[in-house]
Amino acid sequence: MPEKNIESALNEKRVFPPSAEFSSRAAINGLEAYEKISRKALDDPEGYWAGIASELHWFEPWTKVLEWELPFSKWFVGGKTNISYNCIDRHLATPRKNKIAILWEGEPGDVRALSYQMLHREVCKFANVLKSLGLQKGDRATLYMGMVPELAIAMLACARMGVTHNVVFGGFSAEALRDRINDSQSRVLITADGSYRRGTTVALKKNVDDALEGASSVEKVIVYKRTGDAINMVAGRDAWWHDLMASASADFAAEALDSEHPLFMLYTSGTTGKPKGVVHTTGGYMTGTYITAKWVFDLKEEDTYWCTADIGWVTGHSYIVYGPLLNGATSVMYEGAPNFPEPDRFWSIIEKYRINIFYTAPTAIRTFVKWGDQWPAKHDLSSLRLLGTVGEPINPEAWMWYRKNIGGDRCPIVDTWWQTETGSIMISPVPGAVPAKPGSATRPLPGIVADVVDRQGNPVGVNQGGFLVLKRPWPSMMRTIYGDPERYKRQYWSDIPGVYFTGDGARRDEDGYFWIMGRIDDVMNVSGHRIGTMEVESALVSHPTVAESAVVGRPDELKGQGIVAFVTLAAGNQPLPALKEELKIHVGKSIGSFAKPDEIRFTDSLPKTRSGKIMRRLLRDLASGTKTVGDTTTLEDFSVLAKLREEE
Ligand code: WT7
Repeated sequence: MPEKNIESALNEKRVFPPSAEFSSRAAINGLEAYEKISRKALDDPEGYWAGIASELHWFEPWTKVLEWELPFSKWFVGGKTNISYNCIDRHLATPRKNKIAILWEGEPGDVRALSYQMLHREVCKFANVLKSLGLQKGDRATLYMGMVPELAIAMLACARMGVTHNVVFGGFSAEALRDRINDSQSRVLITADGSYRRGTTVALKKNVDDALEGASSVEKVIVYKRTGDAINMVAGRDAWWHDLMASASADFAAEALDSEHPLFMLYTSGTTGKPKGVVHTTGGYMTGTYITAKWVFDLKEEDTYWCTADIGWVTGHSYIVYGPLLNGATSVMYEGAPNFPEPDRFWSIIEKYRINIFYTAPTAIRTFVKWGDQWPAKHDLSSLRLLGTVGEPINPEAWMWYRKNIGGDRCPIVDTWWQTETGSIMISPVPGAVPAKPGSATRPLPGIVADVVDRQGNPVGVNQGGFLVLKRPWPSMMRTIYGDPERYKRQYWSDIPGVYFTGDGARRDEDGYFWIMGRIDDVMNVSGHRIGTMEVESALVSHPTVAESAVVGRPDELKGQGIVAFVTLAAGNQPLPALKEELKIHVGKSIGSFAKPDEIRFTDSLPKTRSGKIMRRLLRDLASGTKTVGDTTTLEDFSVLAKLREEE
């Protein structure tokens, strides 16, 4: 991660306690209440989590709170529940029946408001559609759509019948989509003709057609009509969403599912070339997202809440769909770009709907800083009472800008640390209780035991850097990597014995506050998107001109990290500028545009150790322009480094 951010965070001494007014109304209304809950969770974790789970509806109670065979956990064993029921049906006998569940704005400006009752109807109908296509409990469905309410409807319909959903972010390429369909062995693919983005349309269905050449598990494709662009419909395979829905019954009783029934999988990048399908199950994930949405966002009945993430990532799963709906909240969903038609689109949305809680990413905030204060200044943002960030470390400067220009110096900011794997927020201020420090995610939530340790697992001292680990199982933790429990074990539970290793570096200050320093493995974080260096390398070497490549991240003021690829060409190829462009496009096609390298550097050879391992650290230093100070004694050929420097 950016060295600059870490240094400035190291000197950060400012503390921002919540106002008395905010605290007095908050769900957890001060440090005393917070410490009390934390202590209870520490002393009796099972009782603590069971208490939270029992705030939700269970068709049958569990017989055992936790079955823990490191690293495999089962929560609320024997219990039967349904997250779709808890998100929707549970509210229908209350005044929430006619409350807006999903308040949606399309990029062109069209608006839809779905009440809980209306959402129920759509979800039941769509579950019947899936059933009529032969889908059954235990099957998988891949969802590849833009940000339309139908994406949430499809997820909730899958959850209702026990079909495991696999949402693939609409920015992924056809090839990446194909890999994810194949790995998940999905029988049904749910998509749209296209999606609006920055004034043009993204051709989703075209990518689907390409992906399905070579993905044989898919029997049916359901296409939601969003843009009206001309698309190809394959007879017998493809059907329109609206045609199937026209005759579907609106009765569909939620299945009483096992607490451990797999709710969804979501592919995320790791240290190998192949993305992994992170598996989340029903009861535990539901418990985690419910309580964190309630406490971290301090949801009140009258709040209008907006998370700007895309549902294609875990943030959208947990904090656009499941967490807010479990709490009966009004969740705002926006389809398009933040700068369409002008760079004030977000602020105009906040003003228009009088949004109270706003959750976005540091990379977006840094972009807003660049666009200028005049854009938020044009709008009345006085409805806001709480702000949040997620996805990467936030530099204190951006944090302060956010507080002043968006929060009017009055809103607490929750800097929420978590991962696809953790399912729900792990480290974050509880806004009415824990004073914030700009750049720190502050303290673990009640029930979460985090630590900063060395390679052997020993806690490091105050303000010492180390590995961020989680020491106790928690309900919303991932259960396995789809189809590969060994990889799950190896990846998360082997480097440091007995604990879950996050892949992040961190330090803890004298107040016990966590300062996340970013990934310490071969995973980059580009604009809050997780991209494995190996993934980009595999994409590059799949191009016929490339012999070898090494990919590293370098600090980037806007994106957090940018991607630099060192490439050696196969004999007979010329290192021409046009080839650099071609390789960037090639990576875009293999993964998605968001993974395109910012810079490609051709080189005759890569720095390696005597055992042939690429010395990434040296490349990272080179890419970021810092002088290499680290140990280079294991370098096999010193002239390689000198040459790389010359080539700059
Ligand atoms: C990685 C997880 C969790 C939803 C979005 C990303 C980084 C996430 C923070 C934060 C510092 C953060 C970590 C983590 N990260 N939130 N508040 N402060 N770093 O999910 O794609 O699974 O990525 O994002 O490096 O390991 P993800």
